[in-house]
Amino acid sequence: MDFSESVLARRSIRRYRQQPVGADVLRQLIEFARVAPSGRNAQSLRFCVISRPELVKSVFDLTAWAGYVTPRRSPVWGKDAPPCFIAVTTRQDVRSTVVHADAGAAIENILLGAASLGLGTCWIGAFDKEKVRRLLPVAEGVEVLYLVAVGYPAETPVLEDAPGEDRIRYYLDEEDRLHVPKLTADDLTTWA
Ligand SMILES: Cc1cc2nc3c(=O)[nH]c(=O)nc-3n(C[C@H](O)[C@H](O)[C@H](O)COP(=O)(O)O)c2cc1C
Repeated sequence: MDFSESVLARRSIRRYRQQPVGADVLRQLIEFARVAPSGRNAQSLRFCVISRPELVKSVFDLTAWAGYVTPRRSPVWGKDAPPCFIAVTTRQDVRSTVVHADAGAAIENILLGAASLGLGTCWIGAFDKEKVRRLLPVAEGVEVLYLVAVGYPAETPVLEDAPGEDRIRYYLDEEDRLHVPKLTADDLTTWA
């Protein structure tokens, strides 16, 4: 898949095939993340690849999915839950105001890189950060900023133009397919 195809094809995936993702593929995703832009090139992010099934399950239990259509698009453990997560962390004493921007850049590299490799991902911000932190082999004072679920997709969400700013919620159709309305470039852009 070339770059434009990956950008357009990438959707948040909340149903996964029950198939592990190889360590070489996960390493490739971290490779994409590590070369992302970083404010002052401070590189204060660290990544924890979570792929041991018992640990994935414990982390999964602390996550929340698809708030607009919950619980209908919440994956179910043993059925369509992700086989792994990547946790994006930083030291709490890193007082950079741009650490979330750094995380966004690194995560987007992961999401797009994963899409280009045929993987599905979901950026997860809704999780119990303290409980997840305690599960991971990270030092005291390390904060988990975000999780990224990674696996092979078992759904094909539909990208569509949003009819207006009041109609941007993703929704499920009668065939249980997720639709993701995005405002158009014209809606979002002023040329000056
Ligand atoms: C900062 C951030 C946090 C997110 N957290 C969650 C989350 O906790 N659970 C979830 O199901 N999706 C989460 N998402 C995914 C968004 O819901 C998704 O990007 C949005 O609905 C648009 O769909 P798309 O990614 O397919 O374009 C998050 C996305 C971002 C950027």
